[in-house]
Amino acid sequence: MTTSQTSPPPPPKYLQEDGLSEECKKLISTLPKERGWLASHIYNYQGFWTSPKLLQNVIACQQLFQAQESDIILVTIPKSGTTWLKSLLFALVSRIKYPFSKQNHRLFIKNPHDLVPFLEIKLYADGQVLDFSSFTSPRLLSTHLPYASLPKCIHNSRTKLVYLCRNPRDTFISMWHFTNSIRLDYTDTNSIGEMFDLFCKGVSAYGPFWSHVLDYWKESIEKPNKVLFLMYEEIKEQPKIQLKRLAEFLECPFSIEEENCGVVDEILNMCSFENLSNLEVNKNGKLSTGEENKAYFRRGEVGDWKNYFTIEMSEKLNHVIEEKVQGYGLRLLYN
Ligand code: A3P
Repeated sequence: MTTSQTSPPPPPKYLQEDGLSEECKKLISTLPKERGWLASHIYNYQGFWTSPKLLQNVIACQQLFQAQESDIILVTIPKSGTTWLKSLLFALVSRIKYPFSKQNHRLFIKNPHDLVPFLEIKLYADGQVLDFSSFTSPRLLSTHLPYASLPKCIHNSRTKLVYLCRNPRDTFISMWHFTNSIRLDYTDTNSIGEMFDLFCKGVSAYGPFWSHVLDYWKESIEKPNKVLFLMYEEIKEQPKIQLKRLAEFLECPFSIEEENCGVVDEILNMCSFENLSNLEVNKNGKLSTGEENKAYFRRGEVGDWKNYFTIEMSEKLNHVIEEKVQGYGLRLLYN
């Protein structure tokens, strides 16, 4: 093999550890530290785990982001189906501007992460000066931040939050594959056992998983007009019902005429795993943060965890999750 075939791509920008401010380095030296899934170490800040570079971005985002009343922010823990929901949100909200049957719809030429950018991963990366001038209203944005760590202006405004959750077993398997696929050194993949133990201890990107999910679940019950809680598995099971729920929450419900013309199906088909993963942009393109777009499309199925979990793993995670979420009326353990 030639060198170019064997040399791994550079790490995504949010994992590179150069360019950290002295202030951030000082803060990091005071934080609890654990082995990272991607960066060599991750740190616990405000109760969640993050890499050093992301921490710097998070702080910039918390200090500088100015919410607008009309903003729509998608929140997920990584590998919950963020890419899918970004595409659905974009297609839904811009359906008048971009009728979907046209091959030149932006989803055919851009990865969903470019259309609905992450606050702390992209927009507030590297101390860049933000330019929101290209955004039209409503602005579609996204984040992985836990509820308590969102910029305060998001709590205090009418900004709507769409939260997408996924069965923790599939989320874990998806994360394990993803981290191994973009690790710097291909010969040194994360062992599933080691990553699983960390996950069960709550040590995973933006985790503990259960705290992230529960905080948004509680907010969605207390403030149903502000936070919509969606489950990946429920969208898979009843896509039309869930897409209509999303449209109603965002105050852009489908008209009878749209329903009769098949607009709901058109959006679902355009955003399907099969369609998106086969687009040229998603087969061969790259994000500005450095990852290959194809890393965001693996299998897109419910229950892939069964191909990897031992009985012991399944029992252990069930136990951890049940203990953490019992009494809140939240179903997380899908088959
Ligand atoms: P798998 O690894 O289980 O296949 P995220 O977007 O939050 O990074 O999550 C990625 C997961 O969502 C991956 O799961 C990926 O395959 C799946 N996914 C991406 N696009 C999808 C789509 N259109 N429909 C369903 N799942 C999708």
